[in-house]
Amino acid sequence: MLPIPEVSLPSRAAIDGALAELDSTLGPSKVDTSPEGRERYARDESEATGRTPDAVVHARSREDIARCLQIAHEHGVPVTPRAGGTGRSGGAVPVAGGIVLATHGMAQIKEIHRDDLVAVVEPGLVTGDLHAACEAEGLFYPPDPNSWKSCMIGGNVAENAGGPRAFKYGVTREYVLGVEACLMGGTIVKPGRRTIKGVTGYDVTALLVGSEGTLAVFSEITLRLVRKPASVHTLLALFDSPRDAATAVSALVREGHVPRCLELMDRETLVALRASGAPVDPRAGALLLVEVDGAPRAAEEAFERAGEALSSASGILEVQVAQDAAARDRLWEARRALSPATRKLAKYKLSEDIVVPRSRITELLDRTHAIGEEHRVRHLTYGHAGDGNLHVNFLWNDMAEYPAVDRAVAALMRATVELGGTLSGEHGIGVAKASYMTLEQAPELIRLQQDVKRVFDPKGLLNPGKIFPAQSHRAC
Ligand code: LAC
Ligand code: ZN
Repeated sequence: MLPIPEVSLPSRAAIDGALAELDSTLGPSKVDTSPEGRERYARDESEATGRTPDAVVHARSREDIARCLQIAHEHGVPVTPRAGGTGRSGGAVPVAGGIVLATHGMAQIKEIHRDDLVAVVEPGLVTGDLHAACEAEGLFYPPDPNSWKSCMIGGNVAENAGGPRAFKYGVTREYVLGVEACLMGGTIVKPGRRTIKGVTGYDVTALLVGSEGTLAVFSEITLRLVRKPASVHTLLALFDSPRDAATAVSALVREGHVPRCLELMDRETLVALRASGAPVDPRAGALLLVEVDGAPRAAEEAFERAGEALSSASGILEVQVAQDAAARDRLWEARRALSPATRKLAKYKLSEDIVVPRSRITELLDRTHAIGEEHRVRHLTYGHAGDGNLHVNFLWNDMAEYPAVDRAVAALMRATVELGGTLSGEHGIGVAKASYMTLEQAPELIRLQQDVKRVFDPKGLLNPGKIFPAQSHRAC
């Protein structure tokens, strides 16, 4: 578990005052103060350590969210917003106790408009349910975080989630046209639009996407959709080594191939996959999962071209084409289960989501391996290689090993920045990466963001302890 950041804690009197008012305003059924209820919301799927919240507010409407933020603001009680709680950087972990504001009870699809190519949804909608509803209408919502069966749109937008299909389609940000957002204090604003174009005023929507629940809480989200691709083809390419696979990725990108997914798994990841029962060829030291979509003829041609390029790549062992949808689903089942499968390999796991320019993926793999060896920390790497976005996972069993893990993570972050990369491609900074922010961003830029935070949340009550290094101003 990660050390808990230093944050101001609310007084008992402030908490009691807020809870009494929440109870009388929202009704006790929406304000859970039971020990089991509060305990359940003390953590997410990261190693971030939380303080058990004093209450969990289960919002059912925008008014519930706004009232909760108004009461918390008046009484000076911190609020941590939460949707699916599947985050990997501690964004939904209440590090200051106070209130967890849970929005999973707001899961409606309010509208899917086939001509406007727009969906209007509530924040607690499970991402996979949105996929299914869109595809039933011949439409497509491309962002596909691998936790799509349980993660929720509100969290996806808060963290600007990615996923394998980002290589062709981009990340959540590219699909958020507008939001309805509740601010600390209870004001509701509606930045954005439902049109494709729009340059009216500052792009407040873009500021809120990826703000990790530190600026506002979403009560409604308007999303851009595309038409569902008619045809999808998937292949697996087995390689001798991760270096060979990474070199092939860079070559595909350079040659202008645009598969929708271009995923890499290194040698240790394949060990984990085999351990979880997946029949991975024992010769393979690395694997690429490549998926192409589009109109039938064009997709088939693009797929053949990608297959040919891979067949002549250095270190290639075999190219296996998924013959039907069931075979494709089996491949993806294994890929999407990687995060939980690797979690079982050790008691503790830190999963990074660093990104480097695509031409430097091979160097990143080399540096990662060297860092793991130098600090003697077990590590494995997989991820969205086409985007230069890799999940480097560090595994350990005893907290006595944690200082070495910490040094390895810091070295990895430094290497990433040196390679022209960025600390987080899709999981956010949250608690897990806050102390590394200064490696990438200048003090002036961090201060500017803290000033913005103060405008939205002058008392520093909304999701405290996230993004910014701990010694920051109280409001950050
Ligand atoms: C994945 C998650 C961890 O790509 O982002 O599996
Ligand atoms: Zn990922």
